[in-house]
Amino acid sequence: MIYVKKILVTHKLPGNYLNEIKNYEVKIRPENENSEKWLLNNIKDANGILITLTDKIDREILNYAENLEVISTYSVGYDHIDVKYALSKGIRVTNTPEVLTDSTADMIFGLMIAIARRVVEGDKLIRNNKWEAGWYPQFMLGTDVSGATLGIIGMGRIGRAMLQRAHGFNMKCIYYSKHRHDVDAEYVSLDELLQKSDYVALCMDYNKETHHFMDYDKFLKMKKSAFIINGTRGKVINENDLIKALDNKIIKGAALDVFESEPLNSENPLTKMDNVIVTPHLGSATVETRDKMAYVAVKNLINILSGVEPIYEIKNIS
Ligand code: DGY
Repeated sequence: MIYVKKILVTHKLPGNYLNEIKNYEVKIRPENENSEKWLLNNIKDANGILITLTDKIDREILNYAENLEVISTYSVGYDHIDVKYALSKGIRVTNTPEVLTDSTADMIFGLMIAIARRVVEGDKLIRNNKWEAGWYPQFMLGTDVSGATLGIIGMGRIGRAMLQRAHGFNMKCIYYSKHRHDVDAEYVSLDELLQKSDYVALCMDYNKETHHFMDYDKFLKMKKSAFIINGTRGKVINENDLIKALDNKIIKGAALDVFESEPLNSENPLTKMDNVIVTPHLGSATVETRDKMAYVAVKNLINILSGVEPIYEIKNIS
């Protein structure tokens, strides 16, 4: 009897890459089934799983898996996977970096301009028929981006892509990261970055060390005129502290694409503040990028199942 390896896919992906998989049994989760339950019910004899960042792969689920060789996540982030435990069981883990760097940096940079120049507020004003006074010198003044100081926390791929964009806007760029990098920006201490930046962009990974990295004490160190921009993971900010800092006018505003709990509820106080922009985790959400991510995620999975090196692999975790 021929042994056919089994693959579970939790979400339909863009492109035709899944249809091109031959010689494997591919099971895609029916849309009406809860992803977690479906995985629990099916993972026992699966050889590979292709998941997204909304699928939590913890010890419990991994203990059900008897044949699992690879977890391929359709994301660069892997904080939803207990990677240490997976690796200890000999299960390999892959992700989709690089292909989403530019689209994510575009989004974060765009959010920074949008909050500084009150783009969303202006749009709402017109839609609500509140643009009554016309143009006048003090009308809806925002804050300059060009020439301002951008402080980047975390100098990985997205931090570097932010730098590239910031140089085009003549921004003074400073950064803080665990290590120094060979980049065209000044390395400063965290306190100096918080004190000097007009915009603080969070570009670090989310992990135990960066959980609630930005808390009230750190907001207190920022300029009152500064903005915080987050496109990495919501949990790098203590959201209650951010709300308090915004309420108390400790900082000027925030542009957020990610939240402590997603989807963000419209009752969340952040949605009521004019000096806050919220978008629903759209960093990599372009047609082109999501297609490339699908290619990489499928290729990573199939390569490992067929004994070939994947394009990307998470080999260890600190
Ligand atoms: C990722 O891939 O981790 C991103 O958050 C998706 O936008």
